[in-house]
Amino acid sequence: MNDQTLSNLLSEDRRFEPPAELAANANVKEEAYERAAADPEAYWETAAERLDWGQKWDQVLDWTNPPFAKWFVGGTINASVNCADRHVAAGNGDRVAIHWVGEPEGDTRDVTYAELADEVAKAANALTELGVRKGDRVAIYMPMIPEVVVAMLACARLGAIHTVVFGGFSADALASRVIDCDARVVITADGGFRRGAPSALKPAVDEAMEKVGDLVRTVLVVRRTGQDVDWHEGRDLWWHEVVGRQSTEHEPEMHDSEHPLFVMYTSGSTGKPKGILHTTGGYLTGTSWTHWSVFDLKDDDVYWCTADVGWITGHSYLVYGPLANGVTQVMFEGTPEKGSWWKVIQDYKVSIFYTAPTAIRTFMKQGREIPDSYDMSSLRVLGSVGEPINPEAYVWYRSVIGGDRCPVVDTWWQTETGQIMISPLPGVTAAKPGSAMKALPGISADVVDDDAHSVPNGTGGYLVLKQPWPAMLRTLWGDDQRFKDTYWSRWEGLYFAGDGAKRDDDGDIWLLGRVDDVMNVSGHRLSTTEIESALVSHPKVAEAAVVGASDETTGQAVIAFVILREAAGDGGPDIVEELRKHVAHEIGPIAKPRQIMVVPELPKTRSGKIMRRLLKDVAENREIGDVTTLADSTVMDLIKAREAESSSAD
Ligand code: PRX
Repeated sequence: MNDQTLSNLLSEDRRFEPPAELAANANVKEEAYERAAADPEAYWETAAERLDWGQKWDQVLDWTNPPFAKWFVGGTINASVNCADRHVAAGNGDRVAIHWVGEPEGDTRDVTYAELADEVAKAANALTELGVRKGDRVAIYMPMIPEVVVAMLACARLGAIHTVVFGGFSADALASRVIDCDARVVITADGGFRRGAPSALKPAVDEAMEKVGDLVRTVLVVRRTGQDVDWHEGRDLWWHEVVGRQSTEHEPEMHDSEHPLFVMYTSGSTGKPKGILHTTGGYLTGTSWTHWSVFDLKDDDVYWCTADVGWITGHSYLVYGPLANGVTQVMFEGTPEKGSWWKVIQDYKVSIFYTAPTAIRTFMKQGREIPDSYDMSSLRVLGSVGEPINPEAYVWYRSVIGGDRCPVVDTWWQTETGQIMISPLPGVTAAKPGSAMKALPGISADVVDDDAHSVPNGTGGYLVLKQPWPAMLRTLWGDDQRFKDTYWSRWEGLYFAGDGAKRDDDGDIWLLGRVDDVMNVSGHRLSTTEIESALVSHPKVAEAAVVGASDETTGQAVIAFVILREAAGDGGPDIVEELRKHVAHEIGPIAKPRQIMVVPELPKTRSGKIMRRLLKDVAENREIGDVTTLADSTVMDLIKAREAESSSAD
């Protein structure tokens, strides 16, 4: 696409009508919006009926004690049976569940549904032998290999609650999650491959275990890379030995619909990550239904979601949603090199592709010649998730990757919502570059002002959800009060998502990013306070303030301002690198600030609150905003001067 075409596409108020051939046989039709609005419970009941239940529910929704919802009350279900066994029973045992594409190149493996069911049964037997019982917590810290899916489903089978910690998080982050949810078993691997080199997962687990004392009795280790690892006799066990010797017979128990399925930690606006609790029946209903309707899934589709299982997108749209739907999907280990993703699409004839705007922007920079040299005619539907997609990236995605044939579904949701909430439906809803369009059928979203009134078209406000939905978080692990305070206290009866949004003149929704102290870097959620805490835990740092500044590729980037302790002097020549490494060690490499500025003061109000808004102005190179509420307004001059020095030194 040349610049002229791009600007033509963007100049008009571009609107893509749903392709007629998709409309004719879309899984969910236009009428669903009205039907669901008239009777949301009946709508979600239809969605639940696509699953296999032990016992059917007596009541679809119990909302008598808000914000604590119960869905499919009285029903019993097993998530692993829905994701594996039932497809084998239906005669689809030979269907490939996972085309696994590993690093290094050529390291591939196909796992059929029959194999998946066998492996899950074996792993469930192994966990039982290791003393794992229903309700126990199991931490999973693994690379993108099929065993991570097996481990999650084996926990679900037993009713053990998994907490998957992203493999890129530090030992400290792992330790704090293990402690918070009191996990006694950790499943990991000797390492994973990233950029061709083995990464160190087991050493991080060993380091974390030193911090958690003797809380964890067993560490189960998958051999992936074959690298040498330290071994703690009596605690560490090889997966291939323990799981390998088990029977493929395992009688699953049907769990209560509201039995906890997993805890996923996510960053909030305070320092301590929140353990988002999802339960079984509603979560599986919400994820499988939206996966089927938003991607308009057909029997012969090959689906690929590029998210890591360590994030909610991996849970909902790589594991539970797609596998409950019996889909054939690609799972990709490692990091994408130029063209490697397009080769996978070509080789496996991927028809539905789901990724994040940061990836799209990165590929856009590399030029269209790379994707143009692959055959991607198999693609049918493209999805975007995790952060606002700018119109340029959207149009490039649709045009260069999707050959102008594939609708793009920009899907808005959160770890908390569990399922996609706002998105067009391919074949049903028109789409506009940069807009997530409207709430899905059965979902009630609104954009409101400070007084919780719906804003008129053409106006911005706060995004809220007005009715419960099946995959909604049920609480924060061990902290009902914080659950209420965080999401339900701003306005009576409304769930506040933390995002700003605008309605355009047609009433369609545009997401504008977070309005709290949460940053979004490459679609990953990071808390400013968590990174500030990491910085001040360094012996040379007295105070720190962190802001998310807009970044062309990653959406936002972490920018830190620090004041050093007097005893640290100027910190030494490598202070910035030292602090960046420290943050990586405390949280993980994704939290490393792009830029750290050592400053003499921070802008504070008279009551001592840091005015991040002003720091953001500096970080984004803007005119500094109103400084009248600062205790000392000369501070900004000092910071600007320091900024000028550091940019001229770059
Ligand atoms: O700010 C929104 C942004 O990501 C946040 C949720 O982050 P997380 O819980 O990590 O889940 C990410 C994957 C679902 C939201 O509060 N976000 C997510 N999807 C979009 C988005 N912002 C704009 N457009 C989206 N499609």
